[in-house]
Amino acid sequence: MDKPKVVLGVSGGIAAYKACELLRRLTESGHEVRVVPTASALHFVGAATWSALSGNPVSTEVWDDVHEVPHVRIGQHADLVVVAPATADTLAKAAHGLADDLLTNTLLTARCPVVFAPAMHTEMWEHPATQENVATLRRRGALVIEPAVGRLTGVDTGKGRLPDPGEIFEVCRRVLARGVTEPDLMGRHVVVSAGGTREPLDPVRFLGNRSSGKQGYALARTAAARGARVTLIAANSTLPAPAGVDVVPVGTAVELREAVLRAAPEADAVVMAAAVADFRPAAYAAGKIKKKDGQEPEPVTLVRNPDILAEISADRARPGQVIVGFAAETDDVLANGRAKLKRKGCDLLVVNEVGERKTFGSEENEAVVLGADGSETAVAHGPKEALAETVWDLVADRLS
Ligand code: CTP
Repeated sequence: MDKPKVVLGVSGGIAAYKACELLRRLTESGHEVRVVPTASALHFVGAATWSALSGNPVSTEVWDDVHEVPHVRIGQHADLVVVAPATADTLAKAAHGLADDLLTNTLLTARCPVVFAPAMHTEMWEHPATQENVATLRRRGALVIEPAVGRLTGVDTGKGRLPDPGEIFEVCRRVLARGVTEPDLMGRHVVVSAGGTREPLDPVRFLGNRSSGKQGYALARTAAARGARVTLIAANSTLPAPAGVDVVPVGTAVELREAVLRAAPEADAVVMAAAVADFRPAAYAAGKIKKKDGQEPEPVTLVRNPDILAEISADRARPGQVIVGFAAETDDVLANGRAKLKRKGCDLLVVNEVGERKTFGSEENEAVVLGADGSETAVAHGPKEALAETVWDLVADRLS
């Protein structure tokens, strides 16, 4: 089988050096990559680097190898074009259809999915000109990844950082795997909770669970790759932030509830993948609980935590909002799942079997998605991303 053909456009920003890592990931995972830098990009990383890492010739202009008509052919033959970093200038040119170098010509001739990963100073990103250009590109079906927040060039901090190259690679992989040009969740805002809550007993101890957060992160990553604006409410997870996703860190069930209630009013869909502790210690000891010689420990009294899924399902923040829950079951998986779907009042319930070595922390999952309309969708054993894609397919059906 032919290798998927990827065009890596690189425009002139300091983050160009991070595109070398993206290039490596793409080539090492079996993609044929043609790098098309702008002339300014070569001030940051030279043509020799791009050429050596991609194994292909590199040019910025339409005047090299004219007999091969590169300004048309490169775009026409691509399965994916990803521009990382995309500067304000390149976004503006792409939005207005300018074609004064090889990259901008390629963008006009490509009929495959196009991903832009912008990186620039916060002021440039927030400028209405840039925001309008981004809106234009999105309206036309391009996937423009929201920049990350953090340290920028120099002493500045703010929104405008290029997301982690590994996470941009994940977006490219998802977009190529789906093979559709139009991101179907474009314009939608989704909220995903992930990870496991921790209920503190004293300053050093907590009541927790085995959730790794991987399924929730896979849901956030796949939704972003399908064009959604994603708020990921992450309980005690150390996984890297998926590209373009707004991560809200939380600790306890009560904090998770507050974050979900804050985000839900703007959301088209809420997916509760987090493992929320049903109980918390009734009292929190401000100092470390010490053992006492000759004495048994005090029993720990627990109180119920609020059921967030049931609450947001009963009191929908907006009409037509789709709410998805997860059910971790060890016995009578389907019967318990059906009963739980009714009890919680959500639209979809992803039921999976858990156990010592099943699901928690693993890269794979297997589930049945139960619908309040009586539907049952089985998802075969496979990567957590495959289950995430099915969840979003079912959510997208219900939103449209
Ligand atoms: N959930 C929630 N708030 C809680 C507990 C759970 O929102 N306090 C959500 C989880 O995020 C998940 C779903 O409810 O989407 C199911 O959680 P699970 O623990 O499997 O179900 P429980 O309601 O706790 O039922 P049981 O303890 O009987 O298994």
